[in-house]
Amino acid sequence: MKSIILAGGSGSRLYPLTKVASKQLQPVYDKPMIYYPLTVLIASGIREFCLISTPHDLPRFKQLLGDGQRWGLSIEYREQAKPEGIAQAFWIAESFIGKDSVALMLGDNIFFGGDAFPRACAAFRSGATLFAYRVNDPERYGVVEFGVDGKAISIEEKPTHPRSHYAIPGVYLYDNDVIAIARSLKPSPRGELEITDVNNEYLRRGTLNVVRLSRGTAWLDAGTSTRLHEASAYVHSIEKRQGIKLGCPEEAALHRGFLTVGLLEDLLTTMPACEYRDYLADVAMDARRHGQRGA
Ligand code: DAU
Repeated sequence: MKSIILAGGSGSRLYPLTKVASKQLQPVYDKPMIYYPLTVLIASGIREFCLISTPHDLPRFKQLLGDGQRWGLSIEYREQAKPEGIAQAFWIAESFIGKDSVALMLGDNIFFGGDAFPRACAAFRSGATLFAYRVNDPERYGVVEFGVDGKAISIEEKPTHPRSHYAIPGVYLYDNDVIAIARSLKPSPRGELEITDVNNEYLRRGTLNVVRLSRGTAWLDAGTSTRLHEASAYVHSIEKRQGIKLGCPEEAALHRGFLTVGLLEDLLTTMPACEYRDYLADVAMDARRHGQRGA
């Protein structure tokens, strides 16, 4: 499975923060926001990425992430000239997807805990797999309604009167049909190619699977400055309490076997003296001690 990370948009709700750096490059405590979704995908076993952003912001993402090789990944880049909808990502990244299945993740979605994503990626065969997360304010999201048998029966984008409390987070797994489905879409009344229209087509075909995320999973929203601050506070409190880092791509790549301890140690020599390097040095030492991938 390949993955698209969509990291464009205007970031208007975070202005003036987003005047020089896009929303997905803003710090969430001690790392750029994009590190968190990237880490979730790496931990799910994905190593081929296509990052889509605006012509203005793409050079900064390239500067931050490069071609991914130093983390044992491959990262390609594509431009989205205008924010014409999430589903446009499949048009833009068509040549990248090729004949594969694809995980689409929004670059501003932050998750912690649980093993729903690695499990779903490993189990994925065809159709579409979405996730559902109980929230207090479903009207701000795509909302899924379940029937008595627990299967999805409706999906609505930002409904005024939501039929359930289950929001659909910004991570979606699709088979290759998604390209043709996205190609057949017409812009919605707000002028966007809607991801909810893609999901409704899979629902209509009877090939949609919705996994409810358990209480052990945290899904944070960093869409406004208050929520960005809260997300940072959350990461800070967990990191301080547990002495671990959340959203650390190098660590996830090591644990997945994309990166050897030797390569991680080489990487450390390229970093300035900082807390992040100290943490990764401990991770590398720990891996050596436990005989993990010490090539
Ligand atoms: O976060 C989950 C929600 O994301 C879903 O529940 C909704 O169904 C889905 O429509 C989406 O809703 P949002 O209101 O969060 O969408 P927004 O327009 O804010 O875009 C989400 C991210 O995707 C944002 O970081 C910007 C990026 N984006 C968006 C559009 C429309 C792009 O890069 N290009 C685009 O054309």
